[in-house]
Amino acid sequence: MISIDYSGKIVLITGGGRGIGLGIAKAFAEAGATLIITYTSTNPAATAQAIEKQYGVKVHVYYCPAEKSDLVDEMVEEVAAEVGEIDVVIANAGVSLWRDAIDMTDAELLNIMQINLFAPMYLTRAVVRQWLKVPVSLHSSSSDRGLRDQKLHLGKKILFVSSISGIVAMTPQKQAAYNASKAGLTMLAKSLAGEWAGYGITVNAISPGYIQTDMIANPPPGEGEEWVKIWKSMTPVDRWGTAEDVANHIVLLCSDRAGSFMTGSDIVVDGGYTIF
Ligand SMILES: NC(=O)c1ccc[n+]([C@@H]2O[C@H](COP(=O)([O-])OP(=O)(O)OC[C@H]3O[C@@H](n4cnc5c(N)ncnc54)[C@H](O)[C@@H]3O)[C@@H](O)[C@H]2O)c1
Repeated sequence: MISIDYSGKIVLITGGGRGIGLGIAKAFAEAGATLIITYTSTNPAATAQAIEKQYGVKVHVYYCPAEKSDLVDEMVEEVAAEVGEIDVVIANAGVSLWRDAIDMTDAELLNIMQINLFAPMYLTRAVVRQWLKVPVSLHSSSSDRGLRDQKLHLGKKILFVSSISGIVAMTPQKQAAYNASKAGLTMLAKSLAGEWAGYGITVNAISPGYIQTDMIANPPPGEGEEWVKIWKSMTPVDRWGTAEDVANHIVLLCSDRAGSFMTGSDIVVDGGYTIF
C-alpha cells in the first residue's frame, strides 16, 4: 500500500485560507504536515483552528502580502525562527482580472504581474536563500556565498499554482494580463527547476482549469451567464473542478513518494479543457 506521510514536515501555502489554497492546506493536514498559511485581507485564524482540531496538526498563520518582497523576506525569517525549516513551498496566492486590454490601467497590469508572477519569485528566492544559508536581505552587502557553490540533496519541493490560462487564452472573457502572468509563472517554474536541480530542490507547476472558488464565482451580470455556459461547454467532464481535485495531486507531487526526478513540469488538472 502506498501511503503519504508528511509528519515532521513544514509546508507553507500562500493564500491558504480559502479556495484552492484551503483545499491544499486541508489535504496536507490530512497527511500530517505542520502548516504555515499566509494571508492578506482576512485573518484565517478560525479556519486554522478548525484544521488543527480536525486533523491534529499545528497550523501557523502569518500576515504577508505576497507582492511585498521585504515583508516576504521577514515572514520567511520569522517562520524559520518560530516554527522551523520549511520543507515544501506552495505559491498559491493569485488574483484574476477580467478586463479588455485597451481598458487596462498601468496599475492594474502591474498589480496582477506583481501578485501572480513576481510574488512566487520573491517567496522562493527568500526560502531558497535560507535553505542555502546565504543572506536573505536584498540589501545585504555580505559576500557570504553560503552553500550555493555546493552540490546538495536537500529534498525540498516547490510548487506554483499556475493555470491553463498560461497554455491557452481563455474565452470569451478578456484577461490578457492574467493569461500572460500565468504563462510567465509556468516558465518561471521551469527556469528555477533548472537553476536549483543541483541542490536537490524540485520546482513544478500545476495548471487547473475552472475550479469552483470565489475567483470564478461572480462573472459580470448579463454577459457572465453566457460566459459560464461557454466555460462549461468547453470542459469535457461537464463540471467545475473542486479544490480537492487540485490539492490531492499537489500532495502526491510534493511527497517523498514522488521522488526528485520530476522537476520543471506542469501538471494540467482541467477536466479536459485543453484536450481540443
Ligand atoms: N479558480 C479557478 O478557476 C482557478 C483556475 C486556475 C488557477 N487558479 C489559481 O489558483 C490560485 C488560487 O485561486 P482561487 O481560485 O482559490 O481564488 P481565491 O480568490 O478564492 O483565492 C485566492 C487566494 O489568494 C490570496 N491572495 C490574493 N492576493 C494576495 C496577495 N496580494 N498576497 C497574498 N495573498 C493574496 C487570497 O487571500 C486568497 O487566499 C490562484 O493563483 C489562481 O490564479 C484558479
